[in-house]
Amino acid sequence: MHGIIFTGLKHFVVETYDKGTWNQIREKAGVGGVHYTPVSAYPDEDLVALVEAAVELSGIEQSELLRTFGRYVVPTLVDMYGVYIEDDWDALELVENVEGTIHQALRNSDTLEYEPPAISAIRLDQGVVVVTYGSRRGLCQVAMGLLEGIGDHYDQRLEVYERRCRHDGASQCELVAVGGTTPRRRAERVIEWEFESTT
Ligand code: HEM
Repeated sequence: MHGIIFTGLKHFVVETYDKGTWNQIREKAGVGGVHYTPVSAYPDEDLVALVEAAVELSGIEQSELLRTFGRYVVPTLVDMYGVYIEDDWDALELVENVEGTIHQALRNSDTLEYEPPAISAIRLDQGVVVVTYGSRRGLCQVAMGLLEGIGDHYDQRLEVYERRCRHDGASQCELVAVGGTTPRRRAERVIEWEFESTT
């Protein structure tokens, strides 16, 4: 996994708690000697161990921790990959385009081995975007936080929820981001008409 995710996690912990807490988490995760940088890649297992240790030490539920972290890390990701983001996009346009631009570029990178998730984002009426996510890493809570963080970045209110989840036995996770004032009930109706009828 990309080092930016690890340095993002470190900054998240240090800002929310302090440096000592980060060191405790690293020790507990068995990666005390590793110095993470944003220009390297690290084993997925390190991230799993760090998250498990953070959950144990903080007492915060894993799902909440992952989601808060996803939201927190967006400005760092946008800084690093801003070159792929068109100036005239809004929050939902960025979400729609992540797969074809940013994640694809990461996959094609010949300097390091990245394996971003293959997400598909489909824009429906009423400012509704359905994001399908099926990564074996099972980080749909991070994905939800990323959607919220993208809303924050554009100062746009996005309601984000998960309508199907692999952790509950679905074949893949289905996340929804709804912009503006569209209520969830209305969004669900749009999804039934425009998404479920075609998938
Ligand atoms: C500003 C936009 C975004 C940028 C710059 C970005 C970039 C990245 C990067 C650098 C990674 C690490 C890849 C690796 O190490 O293999 C990653 C992973 C990930 N991305 Fe994106 N991403 C963005 C938006 C999104 C969105 C909108 C979603 C889904 C809603 C998403 C879902 C994920 C997830 C869940 C991971 C963790 C790895 C996995 O689950 O397989 N990303 N992304």
